[in-house]
Amino acid sequence: MWLALAAIIYLEVFSLSSHVRGSVVRTTTESQPWNVSCPRTYIKPCECTARWDDFLYRQVKTVTCSGPINATNFMLPNTTESLRLEDVAGLEPVMFEGAAEVMVFQVKGLTSDSVPADILRGMGNLRFFSLSFNLDLMSLPDRFFGNLRNLERIDISETGLRVLSVDTFANLTALRFLDLSRNNIGNLQDGVFDDLSTLSFLDLHENNISSLPSVGHLPGLSELHLQQNSITTISPSALDRLHSLTKLDLSRNVIQTIPTGTLRQLKRLSFLDVGYNPIVAVGGDTFEGPTNLTDLGLDDHQLDTWNPEVLLNMTSLRYLHIGYVRYDWNQVMYEGGRWWFSCPPDACVFGDCNIAHHQPNCTCRQGFSGDACDTPIGQDEGLPTWVVVVSVTVTVVVMVVTVFGCDRFWRNRKLRYENV
Ligand SMILES: *[C@@H]1O[C@H](CO)[C@@H](O)[C@H](O)[C@H]1NC(C)=O
Ligand SMILES: *[C@@H]1O[C@H](CO)[C@@H](O)[C@H](O)[C@H]1NC(C)=O
Ligand SMILES: *[C@@H]1O[C@H](CO)[C@@H](O)[C@H](O)[C@H]1NC(C)=O
Ligand SMILES: *[C@@H]1O[C@H](CO)[C@@H](O)[C@H](O)[C@H]1NC(C)=O
Ligand SMILES: *[C@@H]1O[C@H](CO)[C@@H](O)[C@H](O)[C@H]1NC(C)=O
Ligand SMILES: *[C@@H]1O[C@H](CO)[C@@H](O)[C@H](O)[C@H]1NC(C)=O
Ligand SMILES: *[C@@H]1O[C@H](CO)[C@@H](O)[C@H](O)[C@H]1NC(C)=O
Ligand SMILES: *[C@@H]1O[C@H](CO)[C@@H](O)[C@H](O)[C@H]1NC(C)=O
Repeated sequence: MWLALAAIIYLEVFSLSSHVRGSVVRTTTESQPWNVSCPRTYIKPCECTARWDDFLYRQVKTVTCSGPINATNFMLPNTTESLRLEDVAGLEPVMFEGAAEVMVFQVKGLTSDSVPADILRGMGNLRFFSLSFNLDLMSLPDRFFGNLRNLERIDISETGLRVLSVDTFANLTALRFLDLSRNNIGNLQDGVFDDLSTLSFLDLHENNISSLPSVGHLPGLSELHLQQNSITTISPSALDRLHSLTKLDLSRNVIQTIPTGTLRQLKRLSFLDVGYNPIVAVGGDTFEGPTNLTDLGLDDHQLDTWNPEVLLNMTSLRYLHIGYVRYDWNQVMYEGGRWWFSCPPDACVFGDCNIAHHQPNCTCRQGFSGDACDTPIGQDEGLPTWVVVVSVTVTVVVMVVTVFGCDRFWRNRKLRYENV
């Protein structure tokens, strides 16, 4: 009987996990997965998928390989447009000889600290390249990207990357999106982004940047993320040549002052976050440049120490962001030497709202809990109890049927033997 119970539990867990695995496969491969007989040179764990219509012509468009690949044996079909490699031990330039048509190239789970210099050389068609989640990767070879003039997106987030050499991104004139977040990049060299004339999104959050000299000439850049670094100083001309910038996040650094003139050239800036920095004072002319600034992120301490006139003189402001709360600027008042805030409409859904340290503080009505008083008490624990009761009932019923069913089966066999 205990065996039967264990078997049932095992079956339930198994069906659940295979269901989960099925849904993951469905969401990660946009093309219809189809078995294509891989060339014999592919090593075992490698798996090929092709889109159904392409399969008719036996032209492999998507190659997905996970597991260690023997690089000297690997041969890429020359019709491949999308190449995804996971947990490969190492990469060799010879692997990518048929890659002239590749537009999407993703590599994850490298165990080496660098990649060969030549692997992208033949990929003149490449649009998207990702090295995300290669935690052991420390550096990129010089001129790694060569002259990939079609490359539009690069994702090198969550690696161990520490330095970017000056010509890392040279000649990438079509690049629009560059994600370098969650690495260990120290200070940026002058001119490292200078060829990126069409770049519109640059993410450097969660790195180890401690001072900000000039970011360079990026005429198309509209979003720049520098939050969660260790920036202490900003050069007054650091952002001077970012004429298209609309969103700038400098929060959670160690900036003490915003030098006069830093924001002067940012005429199109509409979102600026400087919260969670020890900036105790700002000059009256700090925000003179960005006349279109609608959203400003600050922290509690800055509100208490800054000259209130600096904020009151800003005519374009519409929202003040403090932590994760967004206040309507029309609802904020300065009176009697302190700031007064009204609670945002949904701050406390079923409760009363007070402002403490410029943050909503909810007192929930009976029957509700949570930071925003939106969780009915009891529902959290009620659901699992219900599920447990149903599972136990179903399990017991199935068990009884199995045990008795088996019993009857054996009895029938016995009877049959006896009849023979
Ligand atoms: C793919 O191959 C496996 C093993 O050869 C087989 O079990 C499976 O049914 C095949 N899938 C399709 C869609 O042909
Ligand atoms: C990779 O393939 C080559 C050529 O077939 C072979 O000589 C070598 O031993 C293989 N390496 C590994 C690690 O299997
Ligand atoms: C792929 O290789 C075959 C034969 O080697 C050749 O006929 C075909 O033109 C190549 N296709 C591409 C897209 O290069
Ligand atoms: C950029 O392209 C030019 C012209 O093709 C070439 O001379 C130069 O070496 C390239 N720069 C890098 C860093 O690859
Ligand atoms: C961050 O950079 C500083 C020098 O600016 C260095 O001393 C420190 O070790 C770096 N942190 C890490 C985690 O590499
Ligand atoms: C300021 O914002 C308005 C409305 O969003 C826009 O029309 C205008 O072009 C902006 N000005 C600048 C200098 O970006
Ligand atoms: C705010 O504006 C008033 C009137 O234009 C001006 O006198 C005052 O100096 C300004 N305050 C700051 C801190 O810029
Ligand atoms: C929030 O309000 C409660 C009750 O009014 C009070 O005890 C608590 O200290 C307040 N929290 C903060 C952070 O002020």
